[in-house]
Amino acid sequence: MKGVILAGGTGSRLLPLTKVTNKHLLAVYNEPMIYYPLKKLIKAGIKDILIISGSGHSGHFVNLLGSGKEFGVRLSYEIQDEAGGIAQALGLAEDFVDKDNVCAILGDNVFEDDIDLSGFNRGARIFLKDVENANRFGVAEVDKQNKVIGIEEKPEKLKSNLAVTGLYVYDSEVFDIIKTLKPSRRGELEITDVNNAYIEKGKMDARILRGFWSDAGTFESLFKSAEFVRNKKSK
Ligand code: DAU
Repeated sequence: MKGVILAGGTGSRLLPLTKVTNKHLLAVYNEPMIYYPLKKLIKAGIKDILIISGSGHSGHFVNLLGSGKEFGVRLSYEIQDEAGGIAQALGLAEDFVDKDNVCAILGDNVFEDDIDLSGFNRGARIFLKDVENANRFGVAEVDKQNKVIGIEEKPEKLKSNLAVTGLYVYDSEVFDIIKTLKPSRRGELEITDVNNAYIEKGKMDARILRGFWSDAGTFESLFKSAEFVRNKKSK
């Protein structure tokens, strides 16, 4: 299993904090944001990790994280020239993943739970979390057996309160799927379209995340994430 951290995008919702630095380098209490997804991948036993960032601050990621030796893993770096969406960024990892399975994690997601890779062989796995205001996220529709039957990106009308978190596990078919995608209304290749393709093929399973989960891409969610980390440290 390879690991990929998706740290491209513009961070426009955090301006002016992101005017001269990258969102994923901002502090979440006492560590840079990207440490949180990185440490989760490492804890899951993943040793080979690719960091995909925009071109603007890519050198800063290398300055911060280096070869990965300090963390006991091997880090590689890739540039996403323009913020063409999460799925487009993941597409850049094809050579790195090299027919292996891949665990992809958004660089602005802060999780309490560990990554459950157990029993994963082929297909895809997503991780859901019951939240208030799920409209901000991808939202999963589930049947009576709790099987995911579809995902809607930022729907106006909610079919559940289950947000699709920024943690995904795929087999290497993901790269064929990404090549078939068309840009969405917001002009991006959407990870939700990738996930719906796996659902249609009947190759998706889902886990419910325990404990805290938030993105840290808005002022409120960045603050909430920092508060969670501080409270956990003081326990
Ligand atoms: O946080 C979970 C949510 O993340 C999911 O529920 C949604 O289904 C998914 O689309 C995504 O929603 P956002 O609109 O919040 O994603 P955002 O554009 O904020 O990007 C989140 C991270 O993805 C960002 O920190 C870096 C990475 N990214 C994003 C874009 C648009 C890239 O690496 N490249 C990109 O082009």
